[in-house]
Amino acid sequence: MYPAKPIDLSHHLSEETRCRRPNAMKALWRVANRKPGMLSLGTGDPHYSLFPMKKVQFEVASTSECLDDPVATWTGADGSDARTQWFSCSRDEPGSVPFKSVMAYGTGAGVPEAQRAVTELTQYYHAPPDHICTLTIGNMDGVTKLFRLLGNPGDHFLADEFSFNALTNAPLAHGINWVPIRIDKGGLIPSDLERVMSTWDESVHGRRPHVLYTVPSGQNPTGCTLSAERRKQIYQLAQRFDILIIEDDPYYYLQYDDSGASLSQPPPSFLSMDIEGRVLRVDSFSKVMMPGMRLGWITSSHLFHSHLIYLNESSTQHPHGFGQIFITEMMSASGWGIGGFDRWTRSLRKEYQRRRDVFLAHFEREVASTGFASADVPAAGMFVWVEVHIHLHPRYRTDFQGAEGVAARTNVPQLMDELFERCLDAGLVVMPASIFATPASPGVAKLIGGNDPIQNRLNFVRTTFAGEEVQMQPALQILGQVLTSFFTESCESQAGVFLVN
Ligand SMILES: Cc1ncc(COP(=O)(O)O)c(C=O)c1O
Repeated sequence: MYPAKPIDLSHHLSEETRCRRPNAMKALWRVANRKPGMLSLGTGDPHYSLFPMKKVQFEVASTSECLDDPVATWTGADGSDARTQWFSCSRDEPGSVPFKSVMAYGTGAGVPEAQRAVTELTQYYHAPPDHICTLTIGNMDGVTKLFRLLGNPGDHFLADEFSFNALTNAPLAHGINWVPIRIDKGGLIPSDLERVMSTWDESVHGRRPHVLYTVPSGQNPTGCTLSAERRKQIYQLAQRFDILIIEDDPYYYLQYDDSGASLSQPPPSFLSMDIEGRVLRVDSFSKVMMPGMRLGWITSSHLFHSHLIYLNESSTQHPHGFGQIFITEMMSASGWGIGGFDRWTRSLRKEYQRRRDVFLAHFEREVASTGFASADVPAAGMFVWVEVHIHLHPRYRTDFQGAEGVAARTNVPQLMDELFERCLDAGLVVMPASIFATPASPGVAKLIGGNDPIQNRLNFVRTTFAGEEVQMQPALQILGQVLTSFFTESCESQAGVFLVN
């Protein structure tokens, strides 16, 4: 843990955030409980005795210490019967969180008990110097709220050049522009971030980018993970250029161990190195519990936390009571506790690592053996980013040269569209790289593209090993067959077709 040196970062707040007033009723409640035994005629809650429910009970996998591999026991893979344990919360019995308050309207940070549960987790894994947690409805909710908290129409934000489209799409509607930063097999390239920031000319491009959105582990879609060294360099660049980092890390707990030794330490999170309060870390239970649970949390400095509360209290309020009960009970001494959560996530990553390896073995046999595609081994997450060796295609062209100063173009987008259609015709869905290309603001095209526009690098598809295991082999067999027929076709029929749009 680094000592905290918080600095004033309030100039990063958006106009919308500055204009937002605290929800006056919630603000009053924060100060109203000034002495024990206060009587209240002030709430707008329905009376809890009229809630048509008095108990919530969850039957979950056991993570007892006596189980070597709780996920294998849960799925039956180790031959034993699944063992379960119960978490419950009742109106009539004491528990880790009072049913009455968790099912009532609460504050924008979540009920204190649930907030404490995620704080304990964050402390255990990241030990941030001086930060505070705010509950969210998952990372989509968390990240989109942060975009609103920080972005003004016309601002530029930075992101990996291929990124999670559902989120890079979101702030476009608020007039935020993207500046894609080059990535390689190790993720975001710090020198490209430095190049863009140091050549940025405010008189030409407008306000300097002040927010970086990045997915550091098992990135979606490329599966790559930033090394500790790159994270340090990126954090230092953030300090030098006054950038805030939105660290969207839903795959943190799915970091694999290829060392063969006992589980090695994952690279430190940006949050764990944040001495100045410029990291806003976004965590989710979606990938280690269930996505339909819709529960996550943001860890940030107190400044951003207070504005997030105002935003929550004027929009979604707080996550649902069921999820807050679940995590509070799960993290309590009568639930899994930190120890049980850690045993579950370690066991889960062992299972996903096994699935990854099964997938890659099929991939070698069915796809890589054709010579028309290859893939790296992802160190985290759920995705394998398949590179299609498009330059081997008989109709591949690089010969379109635009006017002077316009970069050379290839027909990669057209060929990849065709390949995608052929996969669909053959009964296979893969995700084409084109949908993940971070949409660059036209004003910065020269600054970011150089002589190698992203259109020339769309020769990838995203595949996942998180789905049905029985589908892996037949699906990859189709991919191998489609690639073979696509690459070995006669180039006569469409040889003259060269689309440049
Ligand atoms: C990078 C990234 N961020 C956020 C999400 C969404 O997470 P949540 O379910 O917590 O909203 C995903 C899910 O696919 C993701 O890959």
